[in-house]
Amino acid sequence: MKKRILVALAFLAAPAVARADEFTIKLKPGPGSETTQASCAACHSLDYILMNAPFPSAQVWDAEVKKMINVFGASIGAEDAKAITDYLTKNYGS
Ligand code: HEC
Repeated sequence: MKKRILVALAFLAAPAVARADEFTIKLKPGPGSETTQASCAACHSLDYILMNAPFPSAQVWDAEVKKMINVFGASIGAEDAKAITDYLTKNYGS
């Protein structure tokens, strides 16, 4: 009985481990995807974007990108920030 529970747990844990591997994460192709990939993977996995998709509206993604810049100090220019917000809204927004 105990063994069976352990096996079930191992199966549950497997997808979480696979998703935590940032090298497996590929953003959807399209305008802005490369800028997003280059700018947003510097501090944390791109997983953070996928975890929040597909719910955020344009305003939420805008606020999120600004927070990365203003609060966490991401060095992203205004032009890139706009391209990233547009990309995220189109591909990972509501
Ligand atoms: C300068 C480092 C840095 C960069 C660059 C960066 N982030 Fe973050 N990000 C953080 C930190 C720090 C946190 C919060 C702490 C944590 O949970 O690791 C975070 C958390 C997040 C979260 C989770 C929700 C939240 O607000 O905590 C999302 C979504 C996110 N980042 C998206 C992005 C996107 C999109 C970009 C590119 C525009 C980006 N990040 C670039 C540092 C960064």
